[in-house]
Amino acid sequence: MRLSKEKCEEMLERVMLDFDPTTPLSKAHTLPSYWYFDEDFHQIERMGFLSTWQPIGRLDQVKNPGDFFTFNLVGEPMVAQRNEENEIRILSNVCRHRGAEVMTGCGNAKKMRCPYHGWTYDLSGNLKGVPEFEGVEDFCREKMGLPVIPYKNLGPILLAGFYQPDKPYDVISEELVQSPLWEKAKDYVFYKQLAYDIKCNWKVFVDNYLDGGYHVNYIHPSLSNVLNYKEYYTTLHEWSNLQSAPLKKDGVIDAVRSGAEAQYWWLYPNLMINMYEGTMDTNIVFPTGKDTCRVLIDFYFAPEVPYQQQVQSMRVCDDIQKEDVGICESVQRGLNSDRYSTGRFSVRREGGGLQFHQLWSGEIFNLLDWMRTV
Ligand code: FES
Ligand SMILES: [Fe+2]
Repeated sequence: MRLSKEKCEEMLERVMLDFDPTTPLSKAHTLPSYWYFDEDFHQIERMGFLSTWQPIGRLDQVKNPGDFFTFNLVGEPMVAQRNEENEIRILSNVCRHRGAEVMTGCGNAKKMRCPYHGWTYDLSGNLKGVPEFEGVEDFCREKMGLPVIPYKNLGPILLAGFYQPDKPYDVISEELVQSPLWEKAKDYVFYKQLAYDIKCNWKVFVDNYLDGGYHVNYIHPSLSNVLNYKEYYTTLHEWSNLQSAPLKKDGVIDAVRSGAEAQYWWLYPNLMINMYEGTMDTNIVFPTGKDTCRVLIDFYFAPEVPYQQQVQSMRVCDDIQKEDVGICESVQRGLNSDRYSTGRFSVRREGGGLQFHQLWSGEIFNLLDWMRTV
């Protein structure tokens, strides 16, 4: 769905009145609740996702020439693969003939053949085979390849920038890559992915993540016995923030997650990376509708961590995640209420949440401003 210029104009006026990103934390309100359930808003946010760097998979999924996986990013079918020249290519997975998805699932392929009428593309997306097209005029095969999408990797994570994001990803990840924990964690080995479909807007999940430990004592009793809550702090960077919490003396979350410190990184706009000595998990949230989202959690472990401990660590994380799912769905029901419009922030705890609202509102303002003129 494409919004009209007039609609964008009208929305821009309204959102600029409803949210002022320059208000300091002590006086700030949250984003208005309609940003969490309005269908027009959802359409603008889809554009926001396509205009920012988006984590779509992992390097280990395209290890060898011919390896590929498909991915649907907020309605845009994509395929990532490694070509014969050993280069990674992320391509639009939409056939140039009638628009069928060329590849499905994941695997290894020598070429890409559309299942509908058999058009074939090489692993770089160039159109090669076009059955029964003799006599078609003004048809330039060279110009009918699958569009190439810029990509970037952050350690093992593969990111796509559908509309050529103007912010280089190096800027967003600048502080994370200096963390000694990341230095080790980026080489940990992928173990497994868990997926959660949640009945809440994707921003509810991020808000919950960025409340500086505010909810830990109430929602996660098992964690509250382990994390040193008094020393739980958020550090803001330009396009990311870090929540760090020392574990209590002898604090053990599970057989793997013990050690001195937990680091929880948020990278604009929807990638979260949790690190402990010996393990890392990434949380990636995508909107699946105006008030629904999908969260993917990838678990990585240091090679020396025994298999049984990996299994147990993942189960513990799954339990914690289910506690978050329950409260996020409750928040969404509350946001839908006519008796709630905005909330306030704890100055001690919720600076990261306001930072997210400020940065994302900037993305939305810019998009609406641009869309009303094109
Ligand atoms: S849609 Fe792909 S060959 Fe027709
Ligand atoms: Fe939580």
